[in-house]
Amino acid sequence: MRLLVTGGCGFIGSNFIRHQLADYNDVSVVNLDLLTYAGNLENLADIKDDSRYEFRRGDICDRELVDEILSGGPFDAVVNFAAESHVDRSILDSGPFIQTNIVGTQVLLDAARGAKIGRFVQVSTDEVYGSLGETGLFTEETPLAPSSPYSASKTAADLLVRAYHHSFGFPAVTTRCSNNYGPYQFPEKLIPLFISNAAQDKALPVYGTGTNVRDWIHVDDHCRGIDAALRHGVDGEVYNFGGSNERTNLEITHAILKLLHKPESLIHYVTDRPGHDLRYAIDSSKAERELQWTPQVDFESGLKATVDWYQQHADWVAHIKSGEYQSYYEQQYGERLQ
Ligand code: NAD
Ligand code: DAU
Repeated sequence: MRLLVTGGCGFIGSNFIRHQLADYNDVSVVNLDLLTYAGNLENLADIKDDSRYEFRRGDICDRELVDEILSGGPFDAVVNFAAESHVDRSILDSGPFIQTNIVGTQVLLDAARGAKIGRFVQVSTDEVYGSLGETGLFTEETPLAPSSPYSASKTAADLLVRAYHHSFGFPAVTTRCSNNYGPYQFPEKLIPLFISNAAQDKALPVYGTGTNVRDWIHVDDHCRGIDAALRHGVDGEVYNFGGSNERTNLEITHAILKLLHKPESLIHYVTDRPGHDLRYAIDSSKAERELQWTPQVDFESGLKATVDWYQQHADWVAHIKSGEYQSYYEQQYGERLQ
């Protein structure tokens, strides 16, 4: 199977490519990635010389480039991870989110349709469903009600995928997953930010009261789900993936401090995220039933392994935090932490 993977130098895409090459001898991958602030060649340094792997730097919005790559196939499938992915950045500036997440998806859909690709996987998110109250779970039938510019842009992309399937019979599936954690996650997201800050005795900025709930899933389980949707999903269908593992942000914060033997005095309550979704929780029963998928990583051991990974990869973190990251951090947290 020959795959065009977009956004493969980011967190989930890099884990996905590594798993595909390790799990299947007959898979080859072209990875198209723009190397934005979130894209990092170091994430795939261990497989860069594998003869089944090729990296192309470029923008999914560039139709000429995408056509050129697809014409060098034939490709069996396109798996679209490329996105602006951080909610807080979308609140600071939604422009890149509209461009990459919506226009980029449209360009890929048109190019893949032109190249008669047999399977397109749109990697989406549970955030398209908006926020839950204290109870209930998101199913694939839950109405789309995005809250942030990030989730609105992902929803628009999902609707384009839906429309291409409906109008043209385009062979696409959409996956919607809850919050991932694990190795190679950019330290702007809650878990790697708090691990890396706590390791250096820096403040942990908890938004609001810290009672918001997320359903955490290890990135390996998400990658297994995308693989199942790629190989066994039905055209036009949506598949939810979640960890059935709800935690408040404060519970996550306490667990990280405990694993690192750091004091609770590092916790700083800061101004809440505007429009902050209260709770996400996923009903994955369709994926369990139709794709024979179940999450396998237990959260306590997964979090401990993740904390260990970040401690063993302090150079990886330091490299990221020495660059553009500092001006982002100042803009996002400077006043909040004063
Ligand atoms: P990430 O920010 O770590 O990586 C995104 C990657 O996309 C980077 O390598 C970046 O360089 C690349 N990219 C950005 N714009 C591009 C463009 N115009 N052209 C080509 N490449 C471009 O993101 P992630 O956390 O790995 O998320 C990957 C996908 O999974 C996203 O679509 C996201 O919406 C979705 N998702 C993420 C989570 C999560 O918890 N992180 C959960 C569910 C779904
Ligand atoms: O649910 C899937 C989504 O999960 C993905 O689509 C997104 O790409 C991914 O970024 C993630 O979105 P969240 O906004 O839920 O993740 P984040 O790690 O930014 O925040 C998790 C929770 O932690 C959220 O309630 C906000 C809170 N938080 C986050 C940061 C960065 C804090 O309290 N302080 C922080 O500094």
